Amino acid sequence: MSIYDDQEKNIVRSTEGRGETFAEIMQRRINRRSFLRGTATASAVFMISACSQAPSETATVPTTAPATAAPTTASTAEPTMAPAASDFTFSAIAPSPSTEDKTVVPAGYTVATLLRWGDPLTPDAPDFDVNNQTAEAQAKQFGYNCDFIGFLPLPEGSSASDKGLLVVNHEYTNPELMFPGYTPGDPTQEQVDVEIEAHGVTVVEIQRNANGEWSYNKGSKYNRRLTGTTPMTISGPAADHEWLKTSADPTGKDIRGTLNNCAAGKTPWGTVITAEENFHQYFANLDGLPDDDPRKAVHKRYGIPSEASERMWEKYHDRFDATKEPNESFRHGWAVELDPYDPTMKPVKRTWLGRFRHEAQTFAVTPSGRVAVYTGDDARFEYVYKFVTNGTYKPGDRQANMRLMDDGMLYVAKFNDDGTGEWLPLEFGKGPLTEANGFTSQGDVLIKTRQAADALGATKMDRPEDIEPNPVNQKVYMVMTNNTDRGKEGKPGPDAANPRAENKFGHIIEVTEDGNDYAATTFTWEIFMLCGDPEDDSTFFAGFDKSKVSPIATPDNITFDLKGNLWIATDGQPGTLKLNDGLFAVPVEGPGRGHLQQFFASVAGSEVCGPEFTPDNKSLFLAIQHPGEGGTFEEPVSNWPDGTQPVKPSVIAIRANNGGVIGQA
Ligand code: FEO
Ligand code: CA
Ligand code: CA
Ligand code: CA
Repeated sequence: MSIYDDQEKNIVRSTEGRGETFAEIMQRRINRRSFLRGTATASAVFMISACSQAPSETATVPTTAPATAAPTTASTAEPTMAPAASDFTFSAIAPSPSTEDKTVVPAGYTVATLLRWGDPLTPDAPDFDVNNQTAEAQAKQFGYNCDFIGFLPLPEGSSASDKGLLVVNHEYTNPELMFPGYTPGDPTQEQVDVEIEAHGVTVVEIQRNANGEWSYNKGSKYNRRLTGTTPMTISGPAADHEWLKTSADPTGKDIRGTLNNCAAGKTPWGTVITAEENFHQYFANLDGLPDDDPRKAVHKRYGIPSEASERMWEKYHDRFDATKEPNESFRHGWAVELDPYDPTMKPVKRTWLGRFRHEAQTFAVTPSGRVAVYTGDDARFEYVYKFVTNGTYKPGDRQANMRLMDDGMLYVAKFNDDGTGEWLPLEFGKGPLTEANGFTSQGDVLIKTRQAADALGATKMDRPEDIEPNPVNQKVYMVMTNNTDRGKEGKPGPDAANPRAENKFGHIIEVTEDGNDYAATTFTWEIFMLCGDPEDDSTFFAGFDKSKVSPIATPDNITFDLKGNLWIATDGQPGTLKLNDGLFAVPVEGPGRGHLQQFFASVAGSEVCGPEFTPDNKSLFLAIQHPGEGGTFEEPVSNWPDGTQPVKPSVIAIRANNGGVIGQA
């Protein structure tokens, strides 16, 4: 039985208009491809093995056999000719109902909490005290709502897995869960200032002992917080734009802080470029700007609130008031480079990567040595982007490499219905990006990236989240988390790359750059997964037998293991499948392609973010974001991770009890 109402099933029309489900169309494509590949799968061995490890004290074993687990005994489905499902050795866990307040991993794995909101990061940082929170203390403590996680080995340049720097983003705050007695719409200044310092990024040194257990080093010289007030600068074509100047900063380059840091990426030269995603929500009072001020239309396109903000930061800080400081929000919505190995480095907002609700800058070196950066704009009907450097990556020359992001070209994706696609350059003076159409310079194009992409006719997507090249098969995986407005009256309808109307569950697109060159300006693509309850006809798991896959909805962050298998974290299953969010693993090649299995289930109210393996794949870090969302400090729905209030967004580390590779131990 389907978990959700049948009315929600979306039957989509094929481009030929025959009214098939999308899954049927994709199945025909798969069958054709399998035929063309010959009999490669016919000799594959049925080799699913269940892990025989005893459960650890913290691992929770599902009490009922998961309906979606791989079969370990003969069944009615494909008894002898079945292909190998994957080389994973774990048995899929049963999904957790959305009220469950404990983590779940397969038998043989252990979960440990590594970093909690409020953990002191420097020797002079006070211990967390929920009743005595100050901005000064929070600026030295682990921030709120962890999202991206990047593991950077120590020593620098090594591939060590036992010691490294963890870079963790702190996307936003839930003041109703942070502060006893918080009054929505009427915060105190101290609460606001704690929230501002709870945003940003943490850099912290961590180490693993012989048992595979992690701890952080409070005394490390690398430990650092970036917050909503940290001094930063800005580079690239938009850096000299008049619209970046404010009354507090007539230079336009002395910027305060980074906000709403969601997914991010590690550069090949060992820095991190973090994303400023939903920056619009911190600003207020756009209605106070005169209608003939050209900035107003730009701010509207970016969603700056017309009246008071929900957070009310503008009550205490003029820079968040768009009437008083109309330019401050132009200084946000960028990609920000920081050097975790250099705690003195002033972070730089790299304007060549465009300005929008950034998600997930991910990097790949092209065959010619140039660097491609994939990123998306996470809002309904927004776009997927790629930046390609003009210069080439020079291993070992850190200073030269850090200049690469300031010279290149930004492109936006157009997905054609025939499975081809193009990267359209956002180049000032070319095509529609001219003064006649209101664009005055390359910097102006980048400040108004969304309008430029509109003018180019790019494809409006279903909320791009992580977009990441798979280093093993060279394909690029693009995660669209959902878009319930698709096909509604007055909104764009389904297209081939966003094939479902009222897309509740999201999908994943698989892109092959022409010539396997990440700098290519043309590509081919196909749908890899249409998420949802596998019993829903509109779902599709790369053609794999849907009776054997786990339900999944609203994919968000992804990563790849050493074999190129795709790992998917979700954000939004409680509202769609009434299940807790989780982490899922799926092969993208071979006979197991599409065999999605749930590996982890999170706690009530939370989403799962930032999946990151150590280089040896023997540790897996996850960020548990906004546990307890939906409740309040006084009326909690979660007591994770300490069994009491406040709930604490935290980074966890997962290991196999036998010390093996995650998923294959
Ligand atoms: Fe912060 Fe697009 O998720
Ligand atoms: Ca995200
Ligand atoms: Ca990722
Ligand atoms: Ca998210």
